[in-house]
Amino acid sequence: MNRLKTNFLGMEFKNPMVTSSGCFGFGMEYKDYFDPNVLGGIVVKGITMEARDGNYGTRIAETPGGMLNCVGLENPGVDYFENVIVKNIKAAGIECPIIVNINGKVIDEYVEIAKRVEKIAEVDMIELNISCPNVKDGGMAFGANPDVAGAVTKAVRAVTTKPLIVKLSPNVTDIVHIAKVVEANGADAVSLINTLLGMAIDIKSKKPVLGNTFGGFSGPAVKPVALRMVYQVSQNVKIPVVGMGGISSTEDAIEFMMAGATMVSLGTGLFSNPILPVEIKDGLERFCEENGLENIQEIVGAAHQK
Ligand SMILES: Cc1cc2nc3c(=O)[nH]c(=O)nc-3n(C[C@H](O)[C@H](O)[C@H](O)COP(=O)(O)O)c2cc1C
Repeated sequence: MNRLKTNFLGMEFKNPMVTSSGCFGFGMEYKDYFDPNVLGGIVVKGITMEARDGNYGTRIAETPGGMLNCVGLENPGVDYFENVIVKNIKAAGIECPIIVNINGKVIDEYVEIAKRVEKIAEVDMIELNISCPNVKDGGMAFGANPDVAGAVTKAVRAVTTKPLIVKLSPNVTDIVHIAKVVEANGADAVSLINTLLGMAIDIKSKKPVLGNTFGGFSGPAVKPVALRMVYQVSQNVKIPVVGMGGISSTEDAIEFMMAGATMVSLGTGLFSNPILPVEIKDGLERFCEENGLENIQEIVGAAHQK
């Protein structure tokens, strides 16, 4: 019996665990560590219409309990993704669902890339990133304004039949409101959280450590914030929630599911422990056995106060 089997947006996932965009490349990069098919699904690095070099200077800084990054959406662009990367993913024997994280500077660009991705048969779902803190145009600016978040969701919804997940920014005062707006505009699910905006200063040079001054803060230190947001959002929308932010153990994944996440996503935790997905999959199976659960989905929202 597969106690981890999860139906998410009409597709069967072997388990409720995916990898977070930007933290697992395109899925092949980790295959010396474990078989990527252990995962429920893979969310690939954010893709844009044109290739992007990303930001200059230092892009990563470690912090107590987490990390800052200002990668700036470096990616090879949608043409290369379609013509080379997708083929490589399949040639590597990866069979689990592929979710593509899409990005744009303006709404029209989101629409254009969604139209392109719509035609790529190997892509199972789209994750609309309206929450990247590391780019000058678009990104977080879309996710922080409810009207714009609604407009971009609606525009992309109109051009894709693939399941649409909208990725929310934690850098807002009321994430529940934004979640409701994107739901009303056609999102099939929401994923949260993207990174929190942060910075570090080098006291010797008296300069910001990151080349872009600010960066996205992620890892175990953000978990309580992410968990709180998943808990709040999942009680206020009818669509499923993909929970992420600092998951680095089976217990963390269980907490996110009890907070209301149908799926959990692993990001920064992979950098310090590349076999984290294997450990969490085994851990979730053990948890089901020890607690007499027929399916892990029985715990979703268990922590909600009735
Ligand atoms: C190096 C790095 C690159 C990232 N790139 C993307 C990206 O391209 N698109 C996106 O939506 N999120 C991106 N994220 C955010 C993660 O997908 C995730 O939402 C966030 O890091 C919180 O989860 P975590 O604490 O488990 O890492 C990136 C995060 C990191 C650390």
